[in-house]
Amino acid sequence: MWSSLRNILPLAGLLSMTGALDVDVSSADSVKSATSSLAYDMMTYYSGNESGNVPGILPGPCADISCYYWWEAGAMWGALINYWQYTGDESYQPSVIEALKFQIGPDKNYNPPNQSKNMGVDDQDFWGFAAMEAAEAGIPDVGGDFPSWLALAQAVWNFQVPLWETGTCGGGFRWQVYSFNAGYNLKNTISNGGFFQLSARLARYTGNQTYADWADTVYEWMEGSLLFQEQDGHLYIWDNTDANNNCSDVEHYVWSYNYGVNLLGAAMMYDFTNGSDKWKTRIDNILDGAAFLFFPADYGGNIMTEMLCEPASNCNNDQSSFKAYLSRWMAVTSLLAPYTKDSIMPKLQASAEAAAKQCVGGNNGRECGRQWYSTTWDGSKGVGQQMCALAVIGATQITQDMIPLTLTTGGTSSSNPDAGNDAPHNPEDEFKRNPITSGDRAGAAILTIVIIGAVIGLCVWIVL
Ligand SMILES: *[C@@H]1O[C@H](CO)[C@@H](O)[C@H](O)[C@H]1NC(C)=O
Ligand SMILES: *[C@@H]1O[C@H](CO)[C@@H](O)[C@H](O)[C@H]1NC(C)=O
Ligand SMILES: *[C@@H]1O[C@H](CO)[C@@H](O)[C@H](O)[C@H]1NC(C)=O
Ligand SMILES: *[C@@H]1O[C@H](CO)[C@@H](O)[C@H](O)[C@H]1NC(C)=O
Ligand SMILES: *[C@@H]1O[C@H](CO)[C@@H](O)[C@H](O)[C@H]1NC(C)=O
Repeated sequence: MWSSLRNILPLAGLLSMTGALDVDVSSADSVKSATSSLAYDMMTYYSGNESGNVPGILPGPCADISCYYWWEAGAMWGALINYWQYTGDESYQPSVIEALKFQIGPDKNYNPPNQSKNMGVDDQDFWGFAAMEAAEAGIPDVGGDFPSWLALAQAVWNFQVPLWETGTCGGGFRWQVYSFNAGYNLKNTISNGGFFQLSARLARYTGNQTYADWADTVYEWMEGSLLFQEQDGHLYIWDNTDANNNCSDVEHYVWSYNYGVNLLGAAMMYDFTNGSDKWKTRIDNILDGAAFLFFPADYGGNIMTEMLCEPASNCNNDQSSFKAYLSRWMAVTSLLAPYTKDSIMPKLQASAEAAAKQCVGGNNGRECGRQWYSTTWDGSKGVGQQMCALAVIGATQITQDMIPLTLTTGGTSSSNPDAGNDAPHNPEDEFKRNPITSGDRAGAAILTIVIIGAVIGLCVWIVL
């Protein structure tokens, strides 16, 4: 829309001078050029490939929210694998592979000592997802002593299985791996949904029923807990519940990535079960809830919005990246459950065009803010903002030939169901090798806290 107008506007020359992005999602070339700028600008935050720096991580460590946690870097590598698939641009593949190699840690399961003391189940999952993406995208295994992509994801899975905890809440994963970290009491959606998605992807890639059984178990636990609730005919997936009171109440926050993580897992299971009704219903409920909550009618019904923090402009760096995951996972869902394509693609397309119009800020005139529903730059910028725009604009180019590979459809990553199993399974044993300091503790664990104003904002918005 914008691009066709542009040709007749006298302003056009001026706009391109300021560097604003110009996207016509029906043109592969237009998307290629826009996403190439977005990826470039995102990678200006990354210096891990420069000599003396640590590959794989973004600026940190995190004592406050002005830095990037380790998990978001893992998420970024996954987004760049998808970017390469969407556009064919291989520029960042060497950095992606170097990062995914460098951060595996001594047990080859993405629990490296520098991060281990703060490790959340969800943090490790985002690195596991990136390894899975490499396998599903057909990136050749590195070879030599280095584990296969699939084995890395299996090692994450093997590390996490023993963390399933039935002593409280009838099951579920705690957010944090280690009891000394803030948030250990919480059983949250992203950790449970993360393990669920990883299980579903491993089941589909390998055909091994054990993973599918776990996917069922975890999904059923979430469904039976207060995390999943139906209200006014829509599925609400809340953020977390507290094991200290046996999960008898729930934090009423809705985040787009909690829908995304479960959506892709359900789509993987739908495909794995050859289109079962059970998983179709789950996909439909998640998609409907996501459409209702994150594509608000107030903004036309097709523009993805993180309602809890964007209107109030108080998203932290984690939250500023969440729409990237919903975008990418909706896109893959449209391939695995093709009947969803007609409802998913218009939402991705409209969001992509809207995102481009929010990428008009900063010194270069094309940095992205968060408020895709506005054409005025919201003044924010960062890795998350770039990643979200990159993901949603790139995702408009997804085609059936990008359906994630499996071992029976051309995937070549080799399976090692025992990967990582010689790692210490009592997690606290880890720290007999890597003792904790109080500084580590202080840095540990951010809470997915939002400012009260945002919650009130959402309530008002729901009431309206
Ligand atoms: C690091 O990667 C960026 C692209 O992400 C590239 O422009 C830069 O040249 C790389 N630096 C080194 C030292 O390889
Ligand atoms: C861990 O931190 C040290 C010190 O900054 C660094 O030299 C090393 O490369 C890091 N390792 C990983 C896997 O990030
Ligand atoms: C804790 O919750 C689980 C699942 O809802 C329930 O089965 C169990 O009986 C509860 N335990 C206590 C002590 O209330
Ligand atoms: C799905 O179909 C494949 C191929 O026809 C078959 O081998 C497999 O057992 C089926 N899976 C389920 C869960 O029905
Ligand atoms: C399937 O996965 C489970 C769990 O990792 C493993 O114990 C089992 O050996 C695997 N089966 C096959 C045939 O690979």
